[in-house]
Formats: sequence, structure tokens, C-alpha cells
Amino acid sequence: MTNATRREALRAGGMSLAGIAAMLMGGCGQQAQGGATEVAAADSAAEASAQAAPRQLVLDTDSGLLARSEFIGLDEPVELADGTTAPAINFDNGATTPSLVSALEEIQAQLPLYGSIGRGKGQKSGHSTEQFGAARSVVLDFFGAPASTYTCAFAGTATDGLNKVSGALCGPDTVVLTTRSEHHANDLTWRARAAEVRYVEVDELGRLIMDDFATQLADGKVGVVSVQAASNVTGYVHDVHSIAKLAHEAGAIMVVDGAQIASHRAFSLKGETEAEDVDFFVCSAHKMYAPFGGGCIIGKTELMNAHVPAYRGGGMVDVVTDSDVTWLEAPDLWEAGSPNYFGQIALAKACEALSAAGFDNIEAHEQALLRRALDGLAGIQGVTVYADSNNIEDRVGVLTFNVDDVAAADVAERLAGGWAIAVRQGEFCAHPLCHRLMGYTDEQIVAERDKPGFSAPAMVRVSMGMYNTEADVDTLIEAVSTIAAG
Ligand code: ALA
Repeated sequence: MTNATRREALRAGGMSLAGIAAMLMGGCGQQAQGGATEVAAADSAAEASAQAAPRQLVLDTDSGLLARSEFIGLDEPVELADGTTAPAINFDNGATTPSLVSALEEIQAQLPLYGSIGRGKGQKSGHSTEQFGAARSVVLDFFGAPASTYTCAFAGTATDGLNKVSGALCGPDTVVLTTRSEHHANDLTWRARAAEVRYVEVDELGRLIMDDFATQLADGKVGVVSVQAASNVTGYVHDVHSIAKLAHEAGAIMVVDGAQIASHRAFSLKGETEAEDVDFFVCSAHKMYAPFGGGCIIGKTELMNAHVPAYRGGGMVDVVTDSDVTWLEAPDLWEAGSPNYFGQIALAKACEALSAAGFDNIEAHEQALLRRALDGLAGIQGVTVYADSNNIEDRVGVLTFNVDDVAAADVAERLAGGWAIAVRQGEFCAHPLCHRLMGYTDEQIVAERDKPGFSAPAMVRVSMGMYNTEADVDTLIEAVSTIAAG
């Protein structure tokens, strides 16, 4: 019996436990506990629904992207400051994304069949364990990571993944090289655990100074290089495969924070040569239209088996005696505790949906929206836009700006209250980069931060998803024009 059949049968029937057990056992009703009638009913529900095809993803005929109906809540009305309502416009996709219908449907379909993962002997346990394993394969394929070389361990968010990776890789003498463009997850994690953290600088537009990598790696002391694949502030996409080559030539392990690339550009852990391969990669499902707590760490299997994570508990061990432990291999070694099954099967569904939309289509759409938004903002007096507005090919759909004489928090509040536009304001958990873009030095920040009335520097961020439209951008430009006009 296929999963689609099981799913449709469950939708159709509201089946009994005995029926589910029968389904899981391939329809061998006589082996299930419970009445023959119930099992027979289950079988006939399954047979009837076997005719029904699983719901297909709906793609927009012009763009090839997922239709807006594939996302939950896009046109949900929200209350404006004047008490009226308007459909929400979400430009806060860098923080989190709405759910796909298909991700939620998968969760609903699998809920009645849920059992312990890799721990029990019941039918539901077997079924859920099988689904969990299948989700791993989907995620590995999606990120171009062959199972012959890589293992996918499920985790929580990218922050969780980076904490686990840094906990596993950092010894007392480990020197780490990261950059001034990183989200705090890929900076503070290393500050907490490494003997020394070095940083590649950014230029005045916020782009990585690529020559800095070779300089910082030259003494051969760096053990780990960790770089984001795309910035949550500037949207720049980084050439992590070239950086991986430099890291490997210097004898370091290459880690990539994939949080901001995963739903925007195709990403493969494999480089053109083995030297360009990424060793570890993390991402968050909630930035990929599956906000149910999923995420992953993909690593070279050899390295995952050679480094025991500091995050420990049941499920990662073979034998524990009073005095020692023998470890299982990855992925179990990296998945202490009961996993977030529903988060991970939702992540796999998101991978399938993103693949169906196609990253060429997603990139083209985001580039067009970004160009339109940057051009619109450039025409508004009193608006400062950060990062490179001229050459945007290496940017995902993220931009940051400020309006003269209006605090970023007020801009964000007015966008929401007046036009139902959701953005993020502040420094986006990337303070060092935002300080640089706004022209603040560390000395200035340190001198000011403890004074009464200090207000932290801030910008407004617009971060796009594949479902955003030109009309959304036009509303944003109209709103910012109004705010800037005073
Ligand atoms: N990293 C997320 C953001 O940029 C939270 O908003």
C-alpha cells in the first residue's frame, strides 16, 4: 500500500486503530487486533481511495512558481491602526515563512500513524521510522549531498544545528575563521567554544573581502571555517565552494550556515571538485515554508562519526556502562533525544515543493522584485538604502533601508498599521554587519550603549518570499513614500 493510499484512506475514513494497523501490515486484516468488521471497513476505505490521486501542487502558469493558494494565510486580513482590516503583506520571510498547504497536509495525514522513531516495535513505530528515513533521503537529495558521502541528521533551527556542530568540532585549541557578515548563530556559537575566532572583513557595501580568507588561513592554525551561504541583511550569496577550497588547502573543516539560502537559491554541498565540497551544512525548515520546528545538519559521514556532539542523551549510544560509553554512528550519534518527527516530514515536503517550483524561477522572480523595490526606494527622497543596489545578481530578495528622521521602529510600525505590511526592524541578529553598514564603529557603540536613553542603531528590512508580488512591492513603495514625506 502506498503512502498516498494510506493518506487518502485516512482522510476518507477516520479509521480505527485496528484499521490503521491492518493498513500498516499491508492489509493483512486477520493479524490485527480487533474486529473483522473494522478491518474490512479499513480495507475498503483504502481500496476506494486508492483510486484518488494525491493532491498535486498547483503551479502558476506564467511564472512556474507555486501558486499563492499553496501557502496558508497569505490573504488573511489583519487589523490596521484605524480599526479597518486589510490583507497582510508579508515582507518578513527572512525571519520566518508561512506554511505550505502540502507540509500541513502531510502532518495531518501522518498524525494517526504516529509512533516512536527508531525505538519501538509497534506498527506505527515502524511506519513513522520509515517515513523519517525517507525524509532524510529527500533532504539529502535537495541539498545535492550524495548518501555515499554525506549523512543528514535532523535538528531544530540552524541555530540549533550550529550549536551542535560547534560543540562537536571545537576542542580546547580550535581556531575558527568566520566573517563579519554572519548572523549571531554563526558567530556567538564559535565565540562560546573556540580558543580563538578570526573574522574576514566586509567592504563598505557589506560584501565579503574574499582576499582576507587566504590571509587569515596563511599560518595554518585555523581548524574550522564557518560562513553563511547568504546574508540575512544584505542578501549577498557567498561563494562557499571557493572558500571551502581555501579552507581545505589550509587543513580546515568547512561549515556553511544555509539558513538564508535554502528557499532562495539551489544549493549543493558538492563542489566542482572534492576540495570544494562543504563538510557541514545547517538550515531551518521554518525559513522554507515548513514552520514546524524542523531543520537539519548535513555532514560528511566520516567527519560526523569522528566528532561526538556535546549535545547528548538517549538514542546516540550503543552501550553505556557505569564508566564508559560506546557511540552509534551518524545520524543517530547526532540526534540525541526523541526527534521532531512532524517538523522533519514537513521539511521534506517543503523540499519537494521548492523543487517543483524550480530555483531558476524563484531566482528570476526575486531578482525582478528586488530590482523593482530598490528602484522604487531610490526614487524617494530621504531614504537610505544599504548594500549594493547596482549589482544585484549575487543577492537574494533582501534589502535594508532607513528613512531620514524617522526611527526604524516607527517606520515598521507605520508600515504595519497603515498598509498591513510586515517587515523586521533592528539589526537582525547580525549586529557587527549592521554597525558596519550604518557606519558605526565598535568604539562608538561601546561609548554610547550604557548611557541613559541609548537607542541601538536600527534599519528596516524587507525580505521576500516566492509568493510576493509586484503589487506587494508597489504598495511598499507607496507606503515608504508617504512615511518619508512626513
Ligand atoms: N535570522 C532571522 C532573521 O534574519 C531570525 O530575521
